[in-house]
Amino acid sequence: MRHVYSSSSSADLSADLLAVLVPTGAVAAALGELDAAAYFGGALAKLAADEEFTGKAGQSLAVPGLGRISPRRVLILGVGGGTDAEVALAAGTAGNEARKRGAKHVVLSFRAMANPTVRSALEAFAEGNYRFDKYKAEASRKAAVEQVSLLGAGEDAHTLALAEAGIAGQNLARDLVNEQPAECHPQSLAKVAEGLANDRITVTVLDEVAIKEKGMGGIYGVGQGSERPPRFVHARYEPKGHCKAHVAIIGKGVTFDSGGLSLKPNDGMLTMRCDMAGAAAVIGTLKALSAIQPNVRVDVIFGAVENMPSGNSYKLGDILKMYNGKTVEVHNTDAEGRLVLADCLTYASQLKPDVVIDLATLTGAAVVALGDWYSALYTRSDELNEQLQTAATGAHEAVWRMPLPDLYKDKLKADWGDLKNVGGRAGGSITAALFLSEFVTVEKWAHIDIAGPAFMDSPLMHFAPGGTGTMVRTLTRWIERLGE
Ligand code: BES
Ligand code: MN
Ligand code: ZN
Repeated sequence: MRHVYSSSSSADLSADLLAVLVPTGAVAAALGELDAAAYFGGALAKLAADEEFTGKAGQSLAVPGLGRISPRRVLILGVGGGTDAEVALAAGTAGNEARKRGAKHVVLSFRAMANPTVRSALEAFAEGNYRFDKYKAEASRKAAVEQVSLLGAGEDAHTLALAEAGIAGQNLARDLVNEQPAECHPQSLAKVAEGLANDRITVTVLDEVAIKEKGMGGIYGVGQGSERPPRFVHARYEPKGHCKAHVAIIGKGVTFDSGGLSLKPNDGMLTMRCDMAGAAAVIGTLKALSAIQPNVRVDVIFGAVENMPSGNSYKLGDILKMYNGKTVEVHNTDAEGRLVLADCLTYASQLKPDVVIDLATLTGAAVVALGDWYSALYTRSDELNEQLQTAATGAHEAVWRMPLPDLYKDKLKADWGDLKNVGGRAGGSITAALFLSEFVTVEKWAHIDIAGPAFMDSPLMHFAPGGTGTMVRTLTRWIERLGE
C-alpha cells in the first residue's frame, strides 16, 4: 500500500473509492468541490440534508459515481469534532469498505478538516482494510489497495513514514496471531524476531537446553509437554545517537494454549492460537521502531512455548523453581501464561531498565470484566498510567486501569511452594497481575492484560474477526515520546 499526497480536484481523480471526511457543521464546505461537478450540480448537499447527514462521527453516506465523475464510488463520512478516535472510526470504515469492494486506488479527502490527524487516519484505514486470506481460494480473494491518495493533508513525508511504520508493525502482529498454530510455534516465532536483526537490533535466542540450564523453570515447565521445544527470545534495539531512556517490553508467547493437562473444552480452545498476541505485539512494535528509530534503548523479550498435554507435561502439584529462585506450586496447568511471563520479568529486571511493560492474553477474567475493547492496565505508577493512557488515546486504542491491592496477595499462598499459580475465580485478572508482581524488581512496571482486544471472535467496528495487533501503536507512541 503506497501513500501519496495529491492536490487534484476530487471529482477528477480516477479512484475506486473516494472517501470524504466531514466534520460536524461543515457539510456544505466538505461537499462543495464535488457538488460543483456537473454530475451532482448541487444534489449532494440536498442528499445530505434528506439523509440527515450532519457530519456526526459514525455517520456515512454512499454515492455511486456512475461514470459521471472519475471516482467510481463516493463515501461521505462524519468525523464529528475531528478527534483521533473520531477520525479513526471514519477512516477505518473507509478501509473496510475498500476491502469489501476490492478497491485498488482509494482517495482520502481531508479538505474540510482544519487540523487533519493524518497519521491516525492512515493507520485506521489500514486497520479496516487488513485481511488474512492466504488460505482462501485465489479466485475468491479481493484485490488489495495499491495506492491511497491524500487530499488536503499537507505534504509531510515524516507523517507518512510514521504511519507506514505503525501499519507495518501492526500488520505483522496480526499476521502472526492469525497464522495457524501448525505454522506458528516457538521456533518460528523466534525466527521472526531474528529476521528483524539489523545494525541497531541484536537478537539472542535460548533453546530448551539453555532455558533449563539458566534455571527458567516457568518457561521450561510449561513447554515440556510439547513436541515443539520452547524458546526464550531477547532482542535489543539500540539507538545510534544519545539514548534518552531504557525500557523493556515483554510479551506472552504461548503459540497454542490447549490448557495442558487441565485441558480446555473445545470452544475455549478453538481460538487459542491467539495466546501469543503479547509476543506478536512486541515483535510488531520492534518492527515499527526499527523504522522510526527513536532515541530509546528497547529490550524486547518473550518466552515462546506451546502448552500441551502429554506424558511429559508438567503436572498439578508439581513445584516449579523459577528463574528468580521462588518456587511455584502448580494448581492448574491452564494458568501457564504467568509462569512464562514470570521468568521474562526476572530477566528483564536484571537488565535494570527505567520501565518494564508486559503484554499478555493472560486471563478470561479480563475479558469478562472489560470486554473486547479495553485492555486491563495494572501499574503502581500514576505517571506510567498517565503516559500509557495518553499514548493509547493517540493510537485510538484503550487501556483501563485496574487495582493492584496487596490485600489479595494471600490468595496466592501455597502449602508447599512460595506461591501457587492460581488465585481463585474472584478477581482472576487481578490475582494474575499480583502473581506477576512477585517477579518484578524494577520500580516502574505495567502489566497489560490484552485478552479481550487481542482477538475478535466476531467483527467489531472496522476489525475483521481474528488478530488485531492491539497495543503496537500504543507502545510505539509511548516509546517515541520517551525519545523526544
Ligand atoms: N490464555 C488464557 C486466557 C485467555 C482466555 C486469553 C480467553 C484469551 C481469551 C490463559 O492461559 C488461561 O487459560 N487463563 C485461565 C486462568 C485460570 C486457569 C486461573 C482462565 O482465564 O480461565
Ligand atoms: Mn491457559
Ligand atoms: Zn494462555
